[in-house]
Amino acid sequence: MRAIILFDSKTAGGSTEKLIDSIGQELAKTGAYVEKAKCKTTGDYSFIEDFDVVIMGAPIYYLLVSSQLLGALLQSNLKKYLTGKKVAIFLTCGSPELMANLLYLPQLKMNLVNNTILAEKIFAPDQLSDLTIIEKFVNEVNAAYKEK
Ligand SMILES: Cc1cc2nc3c(=O)[nH]c(=O)nc-3n(C[C@H](O)[C@H](O)[C@H](O)COP(=O)(O)O)c2cc1C
Repeated sequence: MRAIILFDSKTAGGSTEKLIDSIGQELAKTGAYVEKAKCKTTGDYSFIEDFDVVIMGAPIYYLLVSSQLLGALLQSNLKKYLTGKKVAIFLTCGSPELMANLLYLPQLKMNLVNNTILAEKIFAPDQLSDLTIIEKFVNEVNAAYKEK
């Protein structure tokens, strides 16, 4: 598997970036080639042609998925290059999982209606450095990738 983790966060080296590094390390342990890239609304996403899985994640700030990832999905060529890609999505936030599933995940999923979603996960603050939970997410991505 060649996976790219597309992310956004307003906090350099913050909880989302640390989580991404852990996800990347766990994926690499399974034999995957993994890179990460920080999103920009105005970015050129043609480079994702080189990857077969796109993992996308960002924090929630003031009820919205962090703006550069959401902006990239809405305004850049990201959606065009996501055509036919298998994706996995995750969010970091302080809200309870039920609320996050209802309010926040759809902000990403409404832009991915033509993609196969391998896995989706809300990471609560206490799960951000929980390796068992991170491993479970990675295993889910891997298993669904092989299956679908
Ligand atoms: C300014 C600010 C606004 C936030 N707004 C929300 C929110 O509306 N809903 C929520 O569930 N969490 C909210 N959070 C919590 C963050 O999503 C959570 O702490 C996340 O892990 C931060 O990621 P970061 O360290 O990469 O910035 C907010 C955090 C900050 C700092």
